Amino acid sequence: MSFPKTYYIETFGCQMNEYDSQLVETILGADGMIPASDKESSDCLLLNTCSVREHAEQRVFSLLSQHKALKNNNPAMKIVLLGCMASKHQDELLHRFPHLDLVVGPDGYRNLPALMKAEKNIRTTWLGNNPLEEYNDIIPAHTKISAYIAIARGCDNFCSYCVVPYVRGGERSRPADSIIEEMKQLASQGIREITLLGQNVNSYRYNDCDFAGLLRRANEVDDIIRIRFITSHPKDLSEDLLNAMAECEKAAPHLHLPFQAGSDRILRLMNRKYTRSEYLELVDKVRRFIPGISLTTDIIAGFPTETEDNFQQTLEIIRRVRFDDAFTYRYSPRPGTAAAEMPDDVPEEVKIDRLERMISAVRKIARQNLQDLISRKFTVLIEHKSKKDPDWWMGRTEHNRIAVIPKEKYKPGELVEMRVETIAGFTLKGAIEIEAKPIFIY
Ligand code: SAH
Ligand code: SF4
Ligand code: F3S
Repeated sequence: MSFPKTYYIETFGCQMNEYDSQLVETILGADGMIPASDKESSDCLLLNTCSVREHAEQRVFSLLSQHKALKNNNPAMKIVLLGCMASKHQDELLHRFPHLDLVVGPDGYRNLPALMKAEKNIRTTWLGNNPLEEYNDIIPAHTKISAYIAIARGCDNFCSYCVVPYVRGGERSRPADSIIEEMKQLASQGIREITLLGQNVNSYRYNDCDFAGLLRRANEVDDIIRIRFITSHPKDLSEDLLNAMAECEKAAPHLHLPFQAGSDRILRLMNRKYTRSEYLELVDKVRRFIPGISLTTDIIAGFPTETEDNFQQTLEIIRRVRFDDAFTYRYSPRPGTAAAEMPDDVPEEVKIDRLERMISAVRKIARQNLQDLISRKFTVLIEHKSKKDPDWWMGRTEHNRIAVIPKEKYKPGELVEMRVETIAGFTLKGAIEIEAKPIFIY
């Protein structure tokens, strides 16, 4: 009988997976397990995985092969695969990797302690028997200034390229009361900034409470001074949400609004449910409601049948909107999705070339945007020591830009006002405005 006492988690993929790893740590901790200092010495190694692109899966496959040596050195070690690849590949993983002990999907984490402590060394797949699992009663412990809270799990949008609805199941929103309770508990642990997570937070709804309503309630939680959220699907961004963002002083003036592609034909094939002009009108509207708002986005290059002209329309949106940052991807066909049935006909070298052009367009504009900030004032929530210079604090501005400021008498968790002096790479460097009230809730 082997009773694992220590664990080590490696997390891949999106913020939802990071949050889920914290849920898993909380579940294992409640059962008496403690984190190991490194993976070699752990009794149990957990990999929380992502399926969104083939590359993400390949990384985990090659790590799993490497982990065979760890198990040879320590045969009692359990190796557990969690997350989206568990849902996607299921039992196949146990056949392909004989040293893998357990495969547990995103809805099955409550069963981890029981599965890990099973009397016999069973090898099994547990995808969770509760598609409505929301982990409402499990509140991860935090030691930082900023934390995630999942407000909805799964997705119903079925963008044609995307595997998430298949591996995460349908969208379900958590009760607003349980989200607000989690926020209060985190505030009492010293958390000052919350990022609300969902594949599409804009479609959050629990009974009468929609996302705008949730944001208004979240704004009332004492000791939380900043609220962020990701991701916003353009098709569901309501005027009421823009009103709520403008009204709520804690709502950060930043929106992550993926546009994915600039051509109407490609957007239709992607099943995104908006046109390029609707997206651009939405951006104008957002900027009218929240002047100076920071916009970031996700973009895919090389979707099936994308021509150079179509791609030029993507570049044009980048130039028109002038995003502060973008996550840029090469299209990767995911078996089982609608787009995987289309011809993956953009040659790899063309995809790479388009990706590079996209990245340089985004970077050029992001740099110019930063230059425009010199000598302007922003509020910075101090997070921790700057890695480069321990005499400086690192924090983020309300627009989610990284900033460093001299330490002076301030502490992590405090909000200060800075004036930008220089830009180092993509980091703002500045001085604290001493004549301003140094610590305040804006
Ligand atoms: N729910 C979020 C994020 C989903 S995954 C949203 O809708 O924005 C994050 C990003 O990965 C997507 O926005 C998309 O740009 C990218 N992506 C998803 N599937 C992909 C695929 N098959 N190939 C390339 N990029 C993909
Ligand atoms: Fe995927 Fe689209 Fe859902 Fe985002 S909204 S998770 S891209 S299906
Ligand atoms: Fe996230 Fe990847 Fe799963 S992006 S939801 S971890 S497929």
